[in-house]
Amino acid sequence: MQHDAWQAVLQELETTRNSHLRDLFAADPRRAARFTARAAGWTLDYSKNRITPRLMKRLIALAEASGLRAEIEAMFTGAPINATENRAVLHTALRNLSGERVVVDGRDVMPDIREVRARMATFCDHVRSGSWRGHTGRPIRAIVNIGIGGSDLGPAMACEALKPFSKRSLRCFFVSNVDATHLAEVLRQVKAEQTLFIVASKTFTTQETLTNALSARDWLLSRLGGDPAAVARHFAAVSTNRERVVAFGIAPENMFGFWDWVGGRYSLPSAIGLPLMLSIGPRNFEKLLKGYHAMDVHFRTAPFERNLPVLLGLLGILYHNGYGAETHAVLPYDQYLARLPAYLQQLDMESNGKSTDRQGRPVGGTTGPVIWGEPGTNGQHAFYQLIHQGTRLIPCDFIGFCRSHNPLGDHHDKLLANFIAQSEALAMGKTAAACRAEGVPEALVPHKTFAGNRPSNTLLADALTPRTLGALIALYEHKVFTQGVVWNIFSFDQWGVELGKVLAGRVLHELQAAAEPELNHDASTNALILRCRGARPRA
Ligand code: F6P
Repeated sequence: MQHDAWQAVLQELETTRNSHLRDLFAADPRRAARFTARAAGWTLDYSKNRITPRLMKRLIALAEASGLRAEIEAMFTGAPINATENRAVLHTALRNLSGERVVVDGRDVMPDIREVRARMATFCDHVRSGSWRGHTGRPIRAIVNIGIGGSDLGPAMACEALKPFSKRSLRCFFVSNVDATHLAEVLRQVKAEQTLFIVASKTFTTQETLTNALSARDWLLSRLGGDPAAVARHFAAVSTNRERVVAFGIAPENMFGFWDWVGGRYSLPSAIGLPLMLSIGPRNFEKLLKGYHAMDVHFRTAPFERNLPVLLGLLGILYHNGYGAETHAVLPYDQYLARLPAYLQQLDMESNGKSTDRQGRPVGGTTGPVIWGEPGTNGQHAFYQLIHQGTRLIPCDFIGFCRSHNPLGDHHDKLLANFIAQSEALAMGKTAAACRAEGVPEALVPHKTFAGNRPSNTLLADALTPRTLGALIALYEHKVFTQGVVWNIFSFDQWGVELGKVLAGRVLHELQAAAEPELNHDASTNALILRCRGARPRA
């Protein structure tokens, strides 16, 4: 991290370390307004953080000293900031609705983006209207997306989030795990003649996805009389790798491309969003892109003091590097956002789980936090105890909406009441004196006291819509980017996933070898392989 600016943050932090949020609120009647910022349909109330105006100034100065402004421009304008792979990072171009050109290697990429999106829209209209027919002449009723990581989590999360906007007669399923159970249980729920498989893989080399795709193809052919022509009516592909798609047997006209400058975990607004577009329709998909774009413009242009992604990024750094917090909880108070924490896990942890800085040296402090969470109110009855009274500091993001898509009785008022009350309880706590005033027996006072002073952000929008979802995803993408810049790490590669893949290839070979293989692993790994070989069914 930029040393002097970070030291200035730490110095200022010492002056506030012993201040309680109770006192900070009491001392400043304008605190909530002072620490609230808005963009793209979202309001961020960050007043329940251990901050003062002076500390925020120091944090902003840290962002400036880290060169964040120039880095943002470098990303938006297509500089090869994914340095270890020598690639531009242009997920923002996918939702660039400004009409501006975006040039990579001397070529404007916008016409290609628009062309693929138009083809996707035509395809989706055919499938949704029923004019696209399966091999036996029946319309499509089930979409099965086969992909993993960024080729699964984004569309899976967004299809669930935007269910109220979906065509209910077209059901979407997601198969990611190489565990055959995942595929088998989905196939039990669909009919071959009415199912469209989307094989989604940026590289089209991913073991899990190709294994599932081959098994799905076998299943389809076995049910449709074995005619290979059926594949063209029931399989589409999303990839950057045309050759491999064709080699797999998927017709080029059923392939939707994207580009190496779209990272997997940033790829939902590319063709990877095809299942989502099928589900909610091209017009709603466009609205999602508008939401993304609105947050992109905000990130690029708003002063850091009012810049939502920058503020979230800096607050995270305050806790992780200043207070030693190890994790960060994402707590959506909306059942439709049930998959958001899992989606953000990949976005954040695959991007910033790095211990080497941009110069190839060990990083000075800690980087990417552990991201976790569950929808409220379920989490309240499971792990909130630890957040309220445990020994660890866990910064939280509460995410909620003023209106529900299912206005049933007073459910939503109760949901919102919990949403609001939890951050209040975390911040204000409950003093021993308050317990005694309530007549709590002295022996129980320590147990019923809440220290409070536990930080959280509140993100609130009117309703969960394609627009607000797009803006929310972009908000977190740019938060992660901000942190990566301040930590001086590369956020757009993921070398850490490679070693396990290579070793799995070797172990697979040894598990399947007909003759007893010579094992040269450590003793534990050798024993595990032998144990699993011993349990294999005999041929
Ligand atoms: O293993 C990690 C990863 O490379 C992710 O970054 C990516 O989203 C996922 O695998 C799937 O990759 P692909 O889309 O190429 O199949």
